[in-house]
Amino acid sequence: MNFELKPLTLVGLANEKCDVLVLLVPQDFKPGKDELSLLVAQAVKAGDLGAKPGQLVSLYRASQANAPRLLLVGIGEGRAKQVRAAVASALGSVKAALGKKVVLAFAAAAHEDAVRAAVLAAADATYSYTHAKSKPEPRTLQKCLVAASNATEVSASFARATATVLGMELAKEWANRPANHATPTLLGQAAQALAKLPKVSCEVLGPKEVAKLGMGSFMAVAQGSDEPLRFIVLRYDGAAKTKAPTVLVGKGITFDSGGISIKPAAEMDEMKFDMSGAASVLGVFRALAELKPHLNVVGLIPACENLINGRAVKPGDVVTSMSGQTIEILNTDAEGRLVLCDALSYAERFKPTAVVDIATLTGACVVALGSVRSGLFTSDDALGDALLEAGECSADLAWRMPLDDDYADGLKTNFADVANVAGRMGGAITAAKFLQRFTSQYPWAHLDIAGTAWKSGAAKGATGRPVGLLVEFLMARAENK
Ligand code: BES
Ligand code: MN
Ligand code: ZN
Repeated sequence: MNFELKPLTLVGLANEKCDVLVLLVPQDFKPGKDELSLLVAQAVKAGDLGAKPGQLVSLYRASQANAPRLLLVGIGEGRAKQVRAAVASALGSVKAALGKKVVLAFAAAAHEDAVRAAVLAAADATYSYTHAKSKPEPRTLQKCLVAASNATEVSASFARATATVLGMELAKEWANRPANHATPTLLGQAAQALAKLPKVSCEVLGPKEVAKLGMGSFMAVAQGSDEPLRFIVLRYDGAAKTKAPTVLVGKGITFDSGGISIKPAAEMDEMKFDMSGAASVLGVFRALAELKPHLNVVGLIPACENLINGRAVKPGDVVTSMSGQTIEILNTDAEGRLVLCDALSYAERFKPTAVVDIATLTGACVVALGSVRSGLFTSDDALGDALLEAGECSADLAWRMPLDDDYADGLKTNFADVANVAGRMGGAITAAKFLQRFTSQYPWAHLDIAGTAWKSGAAKGATGRPVGLLVEFLMARAENK
């Protein structure tokens, strides 16, 4: 779908030919003398519009628009959240009849956040997963025109939003694909395809290279599957080579059966989403290639399956990580930290200004924060604040969690330097404490997206989070240097 931003007043709007015209009306709307304004004023007066955000008036072949469908929808004070809800409900109400071109028009000057929210909501409402369907129903919508009288003022925000959409849709696509259509090898190929974009390059390592690097922890997880592992190294070079990069590390478990510590059967299919962190890294690179900020970014993805063959790693096995630390694998289902720790050690070679890992790491994080906020763990306040702020800006929220050293007590073992699990309590934090042991060489933050990366139930599917947060975080970093 193609987004375009146009400076249009209500008079101009009435002439804009399209299939659906959505007019976003703030509660303090001041009508002009044109016919569309008068129509809105009447609806407000009748109590059909304006009282509460999301209120919808639907008209067919109204003379005030050059479109068969005209939707007037209230956006309250015009806050991002209200706009998002309004666009979702308006487009949801005409889902089957969206046609090819929709106009989302702000009836009054639009705020930057509101424009971003409108773009993201329009993309989300019209997204369609078609891979591996014999009769695919792809998105019919080809064009979404965003109209605002102050278009030039909001053009930067609009560009960021459309790039974010491209990134989120790539992330959703790969996260949604089942494990047999998104193997480590295929993920590697998806990353390599990104290298066709400007300033992006990619290298994919296989089992031999990974063994040479001494990634014994990552290899231990991968050895239970017949699918060969991949270690993906993406680069976005937007600044001078001498500038230290920001590194993103995405957990890329393409299927998590739990291994010998096998998971229960119910909802195990959802463990195809266990590479959502990796998918979000791919998405971020897609967006970076679009926005071309002046900074360097490295993306690292340890990708493998967590399965159970005759060679699978067993509870009690001790492995040596790339850092030299030995790990007793007490629970083979705590595999995310085992693949991430070696990627975190690999990150040292870039002498990064910061490393952020993104992982569907723990069920405990879902219990703690549900699906609203991702868990954020860091001992670096400045980095933490920057990530939280980016989350607020992009409505892709996170919440800071603690990292007191006492939480690491449960990781002690008699048989290695560290165990890969502690007790049941505080599971999201003990997982973060495990990762922290491998991050002494740079500022580090960890995002546990187990609750936010996908939805369950009837709306089962990837959300594309936290691409919005990460894009915003990186754009802010590029501006602050
Ligand atoms: N991928 C899972 C975490 C997960 C579980 C995400 C459910 C979303 C929903 C991870 O690899 C895992 O299995 N973690 C274990 C850790 C435990 C064994 C310490 C968990 O959370 O149960
Ligand atoms: Mn697991
Ligand atoms: Zn997992």
